[in-house]
Amino acid sequence: MTAHVYTIASGKGGTGKTTATLNLGTALALLGKKTVVLDADIGMANLGLLLGLEKSKITLHDVLSGTAQIKDAIYEGPGGLKVVPSGLSLKGFQNSNPEKLKEVMTAIVEGMDFVLIDAPAGISKDGVIPLAVADKVILVVNPELASMADALKTKALTEMLGRSVEGVILNRAELEKTEINRNKVSELLGVKVLEMIPEDANVRRSAAFKVPIVIRAPKSPAAIAFRRLAALLAGETFKESSIKEEKEGFVDRLARSVFGGK
Ligand SMILES: Nc1ncnc2c1ncn2[C@@H]1O[C@H](COP(=O)(O)OP(=O)(O)OP(=O)(O)O)[C@@H](O)[C@H]1O
Ligand SMILES: [Mg+2]
Repeated sequence: MTAHVYTIASGKGGTGKTTATLNLGTALALLGKKTVVLDADIGMANLGLLLGLEKSKITLHDVLSGTAQIKDAIYEGPGGLKVVPSGLSLKGFQNSNPEKLKEVMTAIVEGMDFVLIDAPAGISKDGVIPLAVADKVILVVNPELASMADALKTKALTEMLGRSVEGVILNRAELEKTEINRNKVSELLGVKVLEMIPEDANVRRSAAFKVPIVIRAPKSPAAIAFRRLAALLAGETFKESSIKEEKEGFVDRLARSVFGGK
């Protein structure tokens, strides 16, 4: 079987692409799927930061500048997830050729079930190529007009590139208006809402601890939503009862008092 390649895009910045890529990727890995996440936001690399991989010597920058091979830029992530971080330096970004992503994809899909690409915001060259190399694009939107408008533009661009949008992740959704939002969003964008991820203070707390929320707080509302989405993509039935409850330790209690949340 060849890998399913999804690019997680949005148009507008800050909608939750990196959070979704990491947590969906980890949730797929926890389902036993061979999964790799790749940070194609080569200008503002964040994916590695969320896992404490910022000191990685070889990154996607080196691969895209032709000085390293992709196999040397793949790191071990949580739950068996494989991670390809991008570098943080401006020089590394300037030396990178985003066109090389096409070659990278050919090599990386080998033996994988899922490849998730964290796309940058915007529609510059380094934003367009990740759309073009995917089998399917998943849009991450917030329930606000600017986010919808930019997602619509990204959908049009995806289709111009001969690709299609699989669906939408409605992130930071207001729970009390759930169905209204879901219907409005799918109507506006003309694609289905795959999952709604609620606003959840555990997302930021997990980021601070550099552990995906699906591992750090597996019973939290956002983690459950990410796991349900992973099951959907993997074609499996989601069972909330299969998620192990974690005991809150001292560090968690401290984090809760600093970062807030339930
Ligand atoms: N469901 C959520 N609940 C609470 N906070 C969230 C949620 N989703 C994302 N966030 C927070 O929103 C911020 C932006 O998220 P993230 O970095 O994933 O967005 P992005 O789309 O990748 O941004 P960029 O366009 O800059 O790459 C982060 O601080 C993240 O912790
Ligand atoms: Mg990001």
